[in-house]
Parts: sequence; C-alpha cells; structure tokens
Amino acid sequence: MTSISLSATATGKADAVVVGVYATETAKGVKGVALAPGAEAVDAAYGGTLAKALDLLGASGKDGELTRVPAQGDVKAALIVAVGLGKKPGKGAGLDTDTLRKSAAAAARSLAGKAKAVFALPAEDAAQAGAIAEGVLLGAYAWEGLKTPRKDAKGAVGEVTLVTPAAKQAPVKKALERAVTVAGAVNLARDLINTPPSHLYPATFAERAQAEVKDAALATLSIEVLDEKALTKGGYGGIMGIGKGSAKPPRLVRVTYRHPKAKKHLALVGKGITFDTGGISLKPANAMDTMKSDMSGAAAVFSATLAVARQEVPVNVTTYLSLAENMPGGGAIKVSDVITMYGGKTVEIMNTDAEGRVVMADALARASEDGPDLLLDVATLTGAQVLALDRYSAVMGNDDDLRTRIVATAKAAGEDMWPMPLPEYLRETIDTQSADISNMGQRMGGMLVAGLFLREFVGEGIKWAHLDIAGASFNEKGPYGDTPKGGTGAAVRTLVKLAEDLGSGK
Ligand code: BES
Ligand code: MN
Ligand code: ZN
Repeated sequence: MTSISLSATATGKADAVVVGVYATETAKGVKGVALAPGAEAVDAAYGGTLAKALDLLGASGKDGELTRVPAQGDVKAALIVAVGLGKKPGKGAGLDTDTLRKSAAAAARSLAGKAKAVFALPAEDAAQAGAIAEGVLLGAYAWEGLKTPRKDAKGAVGEVTLVTPAAKQAPVKKALERAVTVAGAVNLARDLINTPPSHLYPATFAERAQAEVKDAALATLSIEVLDEKALTKGGYGGIMGIGKGSAKPPRLVRVTYRHPKAKKHLALVGKGITFDTGGISLKPANAMDTMKSDMSGAAAVFSATLAVARQEVPVNVTTYLSLAENMPGGGAIKVSDVITMYGGKTVEIMNTDAEGRVVMADALARASEDGPDLLLDVATLTGAQVLALDRYSAVMGNDDDLRTRIVATAKAAGEDMWPMPLPEYLRETIDTQSADISNMGQRMGGMLVAGLFLREFVGEGIKWAHLDIAGASFNEKGPYGDTPKGGTGAAVRTLVKLAEDLGSGK
C-alpha cells in the first residue's frame, strides 16, 4: 500500500526522487529538454547539470517518458527519475493537470519495490498537487492476484512525499485528502473487478459491500441486501431470471447516502454480472476470457458512492448493484422464455447473452421509484460498444443536456467518454409477438438498441443517462498513463465529480 504526504522541502533520505522534464523547441526548430519547476534543489545538488545529463541520455520530454539517472553529489536519493511532461507550457499558461496525473502515475509505477520516494514535480496549487497525488496512487496500483506469497515480490512504492511550496495551504491539504479518497475508490473498483469469479460472486460481492460500508462507519451511509428470497417476493423477475442457471443465487444491493444539506438526489445503477458465460446462448470460449469484469459497472457505482460519502459531498445518492452470475445450468433461462420484470412489464428472452440489460431493467425500474433528480446507469453492456469506441465509454440517455454534461464531467475528471444517440427508428426492432418487449433487437447499432431497451424501464419524467463502459473497464494489454493492466475502475472519477458538481449547485 502506498501512503502519501506533503512537504515544503525534500528532507530525509529516499530511494528515488522524481522530477519533471519538458520538451522544448527553439524558434529555429532545435529540440531540447528543460527541467520543470520543483526540480531546482535536485538540479543544484547535481551541480546544475541535470538537464544536460538527461539530454545526453536521450530524454525528449514526451509525456510519461521515464529517464533514470544515478544521483551524484548531495542528492538525498540514490536514483533520479525524470518523467516527461510534454511541451513546456507558454508564459501564463498552466500545466495541464491531466498530463501531470498521467506522468506521475507512470513514474509511480516504475518505482515498484522502493520503500521511499520523493515527487518533486510542479505542484504550485491545489489542482496540481491533487493531480500528482491522484496519479501516484493510481499508478502505484497493481493487482497482486492470489499467488503464494514470495519474499522477492515487488510491492507498490511505499511512502511517497509530495514536495510543494504550498504544503501548508488548506486547499492543498484538502486536494490531497480528496485524491486519497478518489484514487482509493478507483483502486477498490479495480480490486473488485480483478477478483476471480470463484471468489467474487453475488453473495460475496454483497458481503464485501456490507463490510466496506461498515468500515466507513458513517451515519450518513447505509446498505440493504435483497437475497433470492426477497427478490422473488419483490417481483424482480429480470435479476432472478438471469440468475437461474447458476448455483450462486443473485443479489440486489441498495446503498443510500443522505446528507442533511442535500438539494439534489442522484440515483446510480450498476451492472454486476460476476461472470458472463452467455448462458444457454453460450459465448465462444475465448470471448469469456475477460468476463469476470462484467461487474465493472456495479464496482464503479459502489466505489464512487463510498468516495462521495467519505468526502461528505452535500448531495443524496441512492445506488443499486444488480448482481447475478450468467450460467447455462439446468435451471437456466431459455431462448423464447417470457419473464415478468419488476414493475410488471414482460420481456421475451431471445438471447440469454443479452443478460445485462435484463438485470439492469429491474434496478432502473426500482431506482425510478425513489424519485431521483438524475438517474445514471453504468454497465459493460455490449461488444458493439467496444468495436465502436475502444477505450472511450459511450454516453446515451433521454436528455441531451445531461448527456453533454456527463461527457464534459468525464473530461474534467480525466476520463474519456463520448456521446451516442438513441435513434427512434431502432425501437421497433425490439418489438415482439409474445411479450411487451424482446431483449434482442437488430445487430447493427447493437449498443444503441441496448440503450433503447433500458430506456423502457426508466420512470416517466426522470432524467436518465446510460454509460456503456464495456471497452474502458478492462485493459487486456500493458499499463499506460494512469491505467493498469486488468480492471481499470472506469467511470468512478466521473461519477464522483458529477456528485460534487451537483452538491455545489452546478
Ligand atoms: N458482457 C457482454 C458485453 C461485453 C462484451 C462487455 C465484450 C465487455 C467486452 C454482454 O452481456 C453481451 O454479451 N452482450 C451481447 C449482446 C448481444 C447478444 C445482443 C453482445 O454485445 O454481443
Ligand atoms: Mn452477455
Ligand atoms: Zn454481460
């Protein structure tokens, strides 16, 4: 576990010190590098030749580029790590916090196994200090798996000191606290996503959520779990129907956060398929490789709710986790079965692999009864989303302003999202003879068809947005920027920022 603190000066010994380096270019086009603010003391101890040494080693200053230099002279660390911060900002222009966060993350990741590190990056105000802290904690994350403990295992960097001339200022301290809470929430989501389905299934996910809420020990936060009995009694035909093929019964978790000064009520719904085999409409073997991550939406909404509560944001939040395992067992739901959903609508199941929309529909109908000002759902809903947008998440909904707002909020929070339509002409493709609606429509525009299905279960007059995070939720390749391999924690930062904006009347 990485801990982080503020200091006005770099004191004491450390294993490494991180400085920033900019890419420069003269009017004549000669390229070079320049040290970023924060590096002065390190450079002075190095005899004022650090930029030259970096240049000789081939540093270009490109974002996230790492150049290692053994320390000399009075530098209180054995190793200097220079991280690229991109083009040097022009006079009066501030350094982009997104670059700062991602570069800090790359540096932190490279320090695995080190006990102590000092980050002497440009941290002149709360926004910059917060971005570095968030980056360090996001970058230091790595899923350790369930391996037998080894003595030579390299854990994440231990103690990090963030050097900033503004260390004593209240807004900077607050920014650090926020970064610890938000990055902690993202890393919790990552842990939940990475946990194998042998260990994380509906009942254990719900228990883990209860334990986290208990641990937070906040009077404003409470949790309720509906088990299979309560779900059957309550008429949750969608969640129960999808869970029928598994030996591990479904759960619906409801988390409430209530602030005495709240003026707005946000409801969140997350898809929590703890493993998606496709059910009777079985997926091909290799399409299941990443399907432990099919609960990323539930992980995101839960973790974000915890962070909002910990930060005491003045807003009310009601969060639903729709948890089930999609398996082809003997009792499994079949193609052409008709089920009755929460709220009474009937659905004909024409593909059991389109299970996400079915479990989400019950929770959307239930969440609508709480009468929220805004209703957001987050789901790894379609393969079509991955084909269309890769790492970008898709935002759909019944209110264009809300959709625009979420895309902008994501950008401000350092996440990539993009608006998508819900075209009316596609609605008829989910009409069917045997029920009110089918869970399967036309293949072309599959992401949008899934969104149109969900829309049917949103209460009259409620502003709703649907985030399809299928592509962003799980990174099968190597780590980059502030994104690790495996579960990414996509959408957590956007949800927290949205709640904060609502809380401050925006
Ligand atoms: N969980 C999948 C969607 C998914 C695919 C997420 C790849 C992440 C990566 C979802 O339940 C699913 O199987 N959707 C089907 C729907 C289809 C049968 C209408 C799909 O997209 O193929
Ligand atoms: Mn599926
Ligand atoms: Zn799924």
